[in-house]
Amino acid sequence: MKKYLVIGNPVEHSLSPKLHNYWIKKNNLNAIYEKKKINENEIGNLILQIKEKKIHGANVTVPFKKKIIPFLDKLSIEAKNTESVNTIYLENDEIIGHNTDIEGFENSFYNKNYTVAKKKVFIIGAGGVVSSIIFALKKMKVDKIFVTNRTKDKAEELKQLFKDLSILNWGEIPNFDIVINATSLGLNQNDKIELDLPREGENKLYYDIIYNPSKTNFLKLGEKFGYKTENGKMMFIYQAQKSFEKWHRIIPEINQEVVDLIND
Ligand code: ATR
Repeated sequence: MKKYLVIGNPVEHSLSPKLHNYWIKKNNLNAIYEKKKINENEIGNLILQIKEKKIHGANVTVPFKKKIIPFLDKLSIEAKNTESVNTIYLENDEIIGHNTDIEGFENSFYNKNYTVAKKKVFIIGAGGVVSSIIFALKKMKVDKIFVTNRTKDKAEELKQLFKDLSILNWGEIPNFDIVINATSLGLNQNDKIELDLPREGENKLYYDIIYNPSKTNFLKLGEKFGYKTENGKMMFIYQAQKSFEKWHRIIPEINQEVVDLIND
């Protein structure tokens, strides 16, 4: 039986096992997907287990998406350009780090009546997934990207990867079409982002990377203002679909049953 893992810390709340095991069963594969909380000093041992084919693939989540890079033999273009790895596999005896968060974000706009091209995007947060979002937004030909983060230095670091970002002070609000919450604020039902987002202009989109809870206070605010909203559920499902495809060479189906698996 082949074994797959999501590694992170914390990782208890990850819904990746639920989703991957559902698809494994649907496709009659002899495999299992588990979660494993690890410390940084255990990364090396885990990679060794993939080399020895005791583990056949892994997803990587906070806080290891960047920290794992020195342990890998090769990075895909996507992982290299974002310095972020969420999917690991063995190919020709080499450990490859890949990034499916980019496609996850991009594909979350499938079947949505919303054009991203030429829009002004305001990203709140500078954590592990933000470089993937920026990379995807640039692929989708946005006009401008603003980033703000409580710890400004972390936002400034992103400029090493993407030179044309505008970094704003915490509290500064640009003129935007799309606002993305990429902070962890909202994971707790009472969390509130202390930014004064204005009710100004038409056709804005409020996008939250968080999918559990499905409606954060940030999304409730967007809704109250009459704007479109989107949570992180489809991004999560699409990134998982791409990882699954890498490991099993099967594109698993995304249907209503799959979407309902991820409800809170
Ligand atoms: P990591 O930073 O390890 O990649 P993450 O969950 O991907 O973890 O990112 C957490 C994000 O939420 C960061 O942008 C963080 O801001 P800091 O860099 O200043 O820590 C943001 N965040 C978490 N708690 C916050 C709070 N109370 N107010 C504002 N931003 C917060």
